Amino acid sequence: MSKKVPAHYGGKPVREDVLGYGSQSITENEKEAVVEALDGDYITRGPTVERFEERVADLVGVKHAVATTSGTTALHLAGQAAGFDDGDEVITTPLTFVSTAHVATYCGATPVFADIDPHLRSLDPDAVREQVTENTEGIVPMHYGGQPADIEGLLEVADEHDLTVIWDACHAFGGSWNGEPIGAQRDMVMFSFHPVKNITTGEGGMVVTDDDELAERLRRLRSFDMNYSPDGHNQEPWYQVTEGLGYNYNVTDIQAALGLAQLDRLAEFKQRRDEIIARYDEAFSELEGIRTPPEPVNSDPMYHLYAVEIGEEFGCDRREVVNALHAENIGVQVHYVPLHYHPYFQEEFGYERGEFPQSESVYDGLVSLPLHAEMDEKDVEDVISAVETLHAYHAK
Ligand SMILES: Cc1ncc(COP(=O)(O)O)c(C=O)c1O
Repeated sequence: MSKKVPAHYGGKPVREDVLGYGSQSITENEKEAVVEALDGDYITRGPTVERFEERVADLVGVKHAVATTSGTTALHLAGQAAGFDDGDEVITTPLTFVSTAHVATYCGATPVFADIDPHLRSLDPDAVREQVTENTEGIVPMHYGGQPADIEGLLEVADEHDLTVIWDACHAFGGSWNGEPIGAQRDMVMFSFHPVKNITTGEGGMVVTDDDELAERLRRLRSFDMNYSPDGHNQEPWYQVTEGLGYNYNVTDIQAALGLAQLDRLAEFKQRRDEIIARYDEAFSELEGIRTPPEPVNSDPMYHLYAVEIGEEFGCDRREVVNALHAENIGVQVHYVPLHYHPYFQEEFGYERGEFPQSESVYDGLVSLPLHAEMDEKDVEDVISAVETLHAYHAK
């Protein structure tokens, strides 16, 4: 029998329309919730934002949740609340989105990259330990793809050197580790509610913490660092004063209404993601040259990504795989170009290619296959069929 020819080499694409790697899932419920919010007294930050925050705080089992306009602004607020400043160093992973490192840069601190544990694809505690200096103030680990990082090991390093930990859990909302929800870890954990993430508010983010002081700082900084009831306010009710350099990172009741309605579907979203992953694992675990994401240990992750690593035995390299799958109308992505490859981090902080070999070798193979709750069986089988066809085509 002759081999099926992938679209990239002249065959017919597996599907006509493009399947994105991620997508929001919005039903009539969400639409009704948003319309209802528009009829409320507030459309900026009001009681619906408070309800959204309370529900997320309950869900992750902490006292405080502070909603912001994006994951990026959540990271900025967390860095400011932690007190990161000029001359400080903050250790983070190079295999992440730029915003993770901006916890440091937005505060005038230096992002110091440490290499990853290639299995988990997130910060290796020993590599972090090696980067600690007298100027280190914090660590910002990222739960790659939703797979929890080595939480225990990283908290140990933080304890040894009295460092603040800000967990970038943009990929991991809805999961748990060691029986506790992702979000319950100290000092602060933040999420993104961008449309491709596990739930969405359009744009949006949140910082959660058990620490009363940090929560107070986060709230103040989110809203102009304004003291709304300073001395004298009772006599002169207009008297409100800013006490520092704050921001307007206020999220709206409209977004919070969407977020609340999405939370109602969190279990459904997780179940669908888990089903797709189980099917992918079944199809790909025996395929030579593909490394599937690591099996969860002591955790029940809610995965944001299904990122495989393409190895030599696949028969063609990662670039060819991405371009070939695009030709099949399968919208794969690569998460992420390591941060020390980006001109900004090279020019500002002197990073160079070659400095973080584990991150680089993982990156060289990474391809994120489509994973989102709107995918039906045909979508899943299209992805599998496109990968299998390509694999067979290149088989010796
Ligand atoms: C790991 C990680 N950190 C931070 C962010 C920033 O989140 P947002 O897009 O909500 O600003 C993202 C989003 O792409 C992300 O994937």
